[in-house]
Amino acid sequence: MKILAIETSCDETAAAVTEGTEILSSVKWTQEIHNQYGGVVPALAKRAHEERIEEIINDALKRSETSVQRLGAVAVTVGPGLAIALEVGIKWARKLAADWHKPLIGINHIEGHILSALKKEVTFPCQALVISGGHTQVIRVDGIGKYEILAQSLDDDIGEALDKGARMLGLPYPGGPALEKLAAQGDPIKYKLPLPMAGREGRAFSYSGLKTAFYRLVTQLHSYPVAQFEPQEISDLAAGYQAMVFRHLVRTLKVNVQNSMFNVHDLLVGGGVAANMKLRDEIKKLSNEVSLNVHYPANLMLCTDNAAMIGVAAGFKAKRGEFTDPERIDRLPRWRVDEISS
Ligand code: KG4
Ligand code: ZN
Repeated sequence: MKILAIETSCDETAAAVTEGTEILSSVKWTQEIHNQYGGVVPALAKRAHEERIEEIINDALKRSETSVQRLGAVAVTVGPGLAIALEVGIKWARKLAADWHKPLIGINHIEGHILSALKKEVTFPCQALVISGGHTQVIRVDGIGKYEILAQSLDDDIGEALDKGARMLGLPYPGGPALEKLAAQGDPIKYKLPLPMAGREGRAFSYSGLKTAFYRLVTQLHSYPVAQFEPQEISDLAAGYQAMVFRHLVRTLKVNVQNSMFNVHDLLVGGGVAANMKLRDEIKKLSNEVSLNVHYPANLMLCTDNAAMIGVAAGFKAKRGEFTDPERIDRLPRWRVDEISS
């Protein structure tokens, strides 16, 4: 079944056409208006979604070379995310489904990230690692729609920690990719930073202490602003901070894999931070150590927010006849992945 999928949960206005796990088109527009604020401003995100969504949907349909008649359903992210941003996508999905007489499928954004890394060879139960601006979770996956959160962040999420650290170095939002580039030229052990402790038992992530320590380090080196820093100093700071952020992540992940109630053979990794090559190297080392098959989305564009992952998730739902009542579909800004009922 061909599905038109819409995603507006944060700052990407996205639409895609999928058929099962095949992506026929995937279009996204990243709202640059937030860059100057160092983070996403919900009211601006809503307005920007409203301005561009129709064009993005039409573009996705055109690129997929699919006529509306051949679509089997319309899918949309209903949560978690920014309430007023989610509303824009839901309103459009509901309208298009009604105009075209198609069923509607409401999708959990985190489930989208998880399933975007699913491959045929994966066996359940397995684990998933969702790492993005708003999520840092290790999840037990018993099957499609069956999730249990094993570990999550007590404070800042990993992408947020990277974005804030990057901002301290004068880098633009989103900071993760900028930090990755600089870190590649830097010495990760030049400066001392504390490894967060919260994950010792594997139940939690915590990034606020590391973030504060980094702020202290940066401000102590020179008086702010960072304009006075040498380029090499900035690269060393970026490398040191990124290394600690990832070390904490991988250590907590390892505890979860090793303490699992079942033998974890497969790990699905999704979310914007999964696009980081340095992190992939670290996860690879862990996978060799604990014999784990690690799966990522088919390309880097599918790690950060996109609508194709929503379409793929909806494809699994459609196969099981799990559609959403258009009269009752509503935004669920705090919808946890373990609250999905199927
Ligand atoms: O999944 P995503 O697009 O949106 C959320 O659901 O939050 O993730 C965005 C996050 C941002 O924090 C961004 O800095 C981070 O993913 N990110 C990266 C990279 N690309 C995006 N972090 C590290 N390295 C990257 N290459
Ligand atoms: Zn996301």
